[in-house]
Amino acid sequence: MTFHRHSISAQSFAQEVIAGLSSSPRTLPPKYFYDQRGSLLFDEICRQPEYYITRVEMDLLSRCLHEIRAAVPAHSVFVELGSGASTKVRLLLDALSVRRYVAIDIDPTFLLQSTQALAHEHFNVDVHAVYADFSQKFPPLPLDDFPVIAFYPGSSIGNFEPAGAVQLLRNIATFAGSGGQILIGRDCSTDRHQLEAAYNDKAGITAKFNLNMLERMRRDLGADIAEDAFAHHAFFNAPQNRIEMHLVAQSHCTFGVAGHQFTFQAGETIHTENSYKYPDRVFHSIVQQSGWHEVMAWTDSTQRFTLQLLST
Ligand code: AVJ
Repeated sequence: MTFHRHSISAQSFAQEVIAGLSSSPRTLPPKYFYDQRGSLLFDEICRQPEYYITRVEMDLLSRCLHEIRAAVPAHSVFVELGSGASTKVRLLLDALSVRRYVAIDIDPTFLLQSTQALAHEHFNVDVHAVYADFSQKFPPLPLDDFPVIAFYPGSSIGNFEPAGAVQLLRNIATFAGSGGQILIGRDCSTDRHQLEAAYNDKAGITAKFNLNMLERMRRDLGADIAEDAFAHHAFFNAPQNRIEMHLVAQSHCTFGVAGHQFTFQAGETIHTENSYKYPDRVFHSIVQQSGWHEVMAWTDSTQRFTLQLLST
């Protein structure tokens, strides 16, 4: 197992928090959910009965495994973006005779644990862990001359607005090179009731995950935000095809963080995440603008989740 560390500036969290809380509307980038506690909470979200996304995608992946195998080159390098617990990729590594697995993640602790465990189970795969924030720009990746297959499951593309999604897919096309492929999964549900249940699980794990952003600000940036100052709020914004997550101020409050003071009116929010549920026609146009073309697509029987194989 090889570990690559691409210094993520310690100041970037402070800078983005100050900038995000100073802007109107106030926002914080969802990538900062994923510190050690946030990564564990996300893993727990994936096991909640209401959060169908993970289960539906796993099931779909196992059903179309033989078709994927027929469409991709063997002995490739598999590059996963935001590898987290590296659960889904386990289905693919053996079935596709993957030569090398490059896991990129923003949480170094979780990344190291997950890839070490995986390397023990799959000693025929050359495992590389890359600690980096790929949302800006990709670090140099250990690809050598193997054919590249990028893997971006979980509907994480939904964290990007259309223009950001085009930019990210272009950046992936650049490192994947000519003949490169990407296997990408996206939630395409439009069922408000089911979507809102998925982001408001009864056990309150998604609420904890959202509120962990403030916890991280307290811990890493010395923010003096009272324990009950904010509450979790998630809803489906149908015209924009997206789930929005917010932290809502429960009453008028003032707090300090990294040397700055912020005042919130009761009900004022911090927008912490967009999770776009791109309809086919919108995603098709994103793909076309980013230099990829569609090779194959699979949708589950409930029409909620689509896996697509794209090629440069
Ligand atoms: C990891 C971005 C795909 O949007 O569903 C889960 C994150 N946020 N519950 C998603 C998330 C709240 C997740 N993604």
